[in-house]
Amino acid sequence: MMQVQLTVNGQVYERETTEYKTLLHFLREDLGLTGTKEGCAAGECGACTLILNGKAVNACLVLAVEANGAVIETVEGQADGNTLSDLQAAFARHHATQCGFCTPGLLMSIQDLLRRNPKPSVDEIKAGIEGNFCRCTGYVQVIEAVLDVTGQLPQKGALKHV
Ligand code: FES
Ligand code: FES
Repeated sequence: MMQVQLTVNGQVYERETTEYKTLLHFLREDLGLTGTKEGCAAGECGACTLILNGKAVNACLVLAVEANGAVIETVEGQADGNTLSDLQAAFARHHATQCGFCTPGLLMSIQDLLRRNPKPSVDEIKAGIEGNFCRCTGYVQVIEAVLDVTGQLPQKGALKHV
């Protein structure tokens, strides 16, 4: 067992863990932060995306012990109590969530994208979420939500064929 200390959404956590536990399982099982989802567990689907030391990563590919001392942001940090973040509210307005399983990962990838590029083009949004698989929305509503929250929503229907 090894001691791991992490700062998650501004709160410091310290726990013992095994050397082989992923950051994803550590967050979900040891810290009770179940917003970050497990899809493929192999770095393919993006459901487990979070921000580690300022960079979006797949938490299923990082060991908890590797993240020792890191500053982590998860989807739980987006809303302020019961008030959705602007991005979450845009997702709700545009029905960018259906089953919702991919949503936490998408929200974190987009948060990372918007910090680097506050007004991304449609192609830049597509590139920013290329690691996030969604089997429900077809992505149109997701892209519309990002365009809306960045103040560049085109007329309705303009994204029909993205
Ligand atoms: Fe991590 Fe799919 S669960 S990429
Ligand atoms: Fe169902 Fe994306 S909303 S997988």
